Amino acid sequence: MIKGVILAGGSGTRLRPMTKVTSKQLLPLYNKPMIYFPIQTLLDAGVKDILIIVAPEHAGDFINLLGSGKGFGEDINFSYEVQDKPLGLAHGLGLARSFAYGHKCSLILGDNLFIDTFKADFDEFDASGQGAVIFATEVPDPHRFGVIEFDENMDAISIEEKPEHPKSNYAQTGLYIYDEHVFDYIDQLTPSPRGELEITDLHKIYLEKDALKASLVKGVWQDTGTFESMFEAASIVRDIELNKN
Ligand code: DAU
Repeated sequence: MIKGVILAGGSGTRLRPMTKVTSKQLLPLYNKPMIYFPIQTLLDAGVKDILIIVAPEHAGDFINLLGSGKGFGEDINFSYEVQDKPLGLAHGLGLARSFAYGHKCSLILGDNLFIDTFKADFDEFDASGQGAVIFATEVPDPHRFGVIEFDENMDAISIEEKPEHPKSNYAQTGLYIYDEHVFDYIDQLTPSPRGELEITDLHKIYLEKDALKASLVKGVWQDTGTFESMFEAASIVRDIELNKN
């Protein structure tokens, strides 16, 4: 069974003052706190055991909101781990070591909205997957994201974090699945010039081993890193809600 990790730490500086006294992932997307959406993405993919990584100042708020996970289903379990400082996405994932060591593991960013289902990909990876899978999608502004280039077999050729001259128009979204080696590879990482353990450097280790695949998001993906993209994400949720009946 693939375990799930949600990264909901970070300092949310790009969304100040909205994030001055609360966590970005607790802000609303129309009718629900943002973190409900990545939770639902993992649940829909069949993941039942989820670790939520939070910043110390907001840990209590996440636990108050989400509790043990039983509110999402009898067989759902949430646990929590505190990331003392925002030392990078791969650092945050590394805090899941005792939770997921020896298991296949998925990571989703707590500020990403997917309108899609990944059940088939997760089931296939659970049964026979090796290496890592990055869910990717075509975007008009790839320089804002990690950029992945891949061949006709979906094998990755290159991956770069926010490149000035992107080699493709495909962004790596905030959803990834890893095999059992992921924590050993995180141990090999060193901090980038901005002092973080970068998720893209972790993906480069898989790439060097010819073990990095891309899988396309078929539905909608929206990040919420800016006021504009957060507003767009809320509009997508609103459209879905208003069209439900
Ligand atoms: O949204 C997809 C993009 O996410 C990818 O294309 C990039 O390759 C990837 O690096 C990441 O870029 P961002 O600049 O959007 O990452 P950000 O710093 O906004 O962090 C993403 C989430 O992870 C956010 O919910 C905060 C959380 N986080 C971040 C850091 C740095 C943590 O929980 N701990 C951290 O140390």
